[in-house]
Amino acid sequence: MTDSSAAKFPPGPPPNLIRSLFGAMQQNPLDYFTAMAQKYGDVSGMRIGKFRSLFINRPDLIEDVLVNNARLYHKGRVLRANKYLFGEGLLTSEGDFWLRQRRLAQPAFHRVRVNAYAATMAEYAGQLIETWRNGEERDIHEEMMQLALRIVSKTLFDADVMRDAKEIGETLDVLLQIAANFGRTILVPLWVPSPRNIRAKLGIKRLEKVIYRIIAERRAGGRDTGDLLSILLHAQDEEGSHMNDRQLRDETITLFLAGHETTANTLAWTWWLLAQNPAVEKKFHEELDGVLGGRAPEVDDLPRLTFLNHVLTESLRLYPTAWGMARLAAEEHEIAGYPVRRGYGVAFAQWVIHRDARWFDAPLEFRPERWENGLAKQLPRFAYFPFGGGPRQCIGNTFALLEASVVLATIGQKFRFQLIPEHKVTPLASITLRPKNGVQVRLETRK
Ligand code: HEM
Repeated sequence: MTDSSAAKFPPGPPPNLIRSLFGAMQQNPLDYFTAMAQKYGDVSGMRIGKFRSLFINRPDLIEDVLVNNARLYHKGRVLRANKYLFGEGLLTSEGDFWLRQRRLAQPAFHRVRVNAYAATMAEYAGQLIETWRNGEERDIHEEMMQLALRIVSKTLFDADVMRDAKEIGETLDVLLQIAANFGRTILVPLWVPSPRNIRAKLGIKRLEKVIYRIIAERRAGGRDTGDLLSILLHAQDEEGSHMNDRQLRDETITLFLAGHETTANTLAWTWWLLAQNPAVEKKFHEELDGVLGGRAPEVDDLPRLTFLNHVLTESLRLYPTAWGMARLAAEEHEIAGYPVRRGYGVAFAQWVIHRDARWFDAPLEFRPERWENGLAKQLPRFAYFPFGGGPRQCIGNTFALLEASVVLATIGQKFRFQLIPEHKVTPLASITLRPKNGVQVRLETRK
């Protein structure tokens, strides 16, 4: 790096700690980052107090950070600030420890293992719609959250105990709300005894109690029940060592959180998009009826549900539940000629890039057909990356896509949803992108 570059910092908004943490960025990060990209282009700089961050909007620059120079970066401040919750689980751990854990967990996400969960996913979606009646009003986001929670409880712990699922779900909701307020999480670390932190600690204790009990029961039972926890319990590294209870706790909480709300949000956004686009919805229904003819979907049906796949791809483009990502430079680097010092943040937003007219025609329109003629192969690798990329790519992507496809196919055969005009749906960018006040719909049985 030359001396002349040392003083260079990309253009960006004037530094202002209060406004940035509690103002525009915190209130509406989606608009904030969109405006940053419009005003300053592909690389901009943010200064908040002593923190320096670069915000990048070009696929090749993102690839440079996530893939080519992944070892120079750690996870960003928001995830690090949530370590009290995730511990040293896969999402937050670093270096050799992360690599060992990733290798131990990887077999649990092997396609063959994951495919075995399809029947549970279809069964639970089927059970849910048995409770629905034509004309009823429901919050489809809430319904998808409950369903995803049941599915993850069963596939992760083999726990169909609704008591546990309910207790865990309620606790996770409290913790997620707390974790979502990322400005505060950075400013007020957990050791500060604020009312919010006290609630968070109590929530963690409750969750841990359930999780440690399940681990103890499973250790006592000793058999492989085919769920993710069994695989993690029996996994061994090259030296033959297993995960201890604390590691299992961290991985389980991580998978639980990463695997439940993300998929539920994606399903809710997809139903909402379908309800607003009758022509797309019609094509979606025709394909389901033609391929499945009323029976429950199986893994072998999925390759023939190509339009469903495009609907899902397009929904993850417009409403990517992982709406933005961040890294912290652990070593010096350079991005587009700008020096990146140790401790600088680097951020990028799927929300912004997925809506960039350089990569997508009519980017704000919901058009699943755009994926029909091999668009995915023509795009730069990081013009579309709902599951991240590089070594830290989402370990659960196959699981998530399978679950979303099976649930869409099961429910879409029997029901469609009418939106309630008075109910406004707005995206809320917390750790995940969720509909702020849910998605209120009227259920309609399909003829
Ligand atoms: C639509 C659903 C999902 C989306 C969009 C999504 C997205 C992502 C993204 C973008 C990352 C990368 C984060 C980063 O690099 O900073 C990630 C990581 C991760 N995801 Fe997912 N995810 C989804 C579902 C799931 C599911 C179902 C599971 C587990 C059952 C899961 C488990 C994880 C884990 C453990 C990591 C950390 C991986 C590592 O660093 O080694 N995710 N996810």
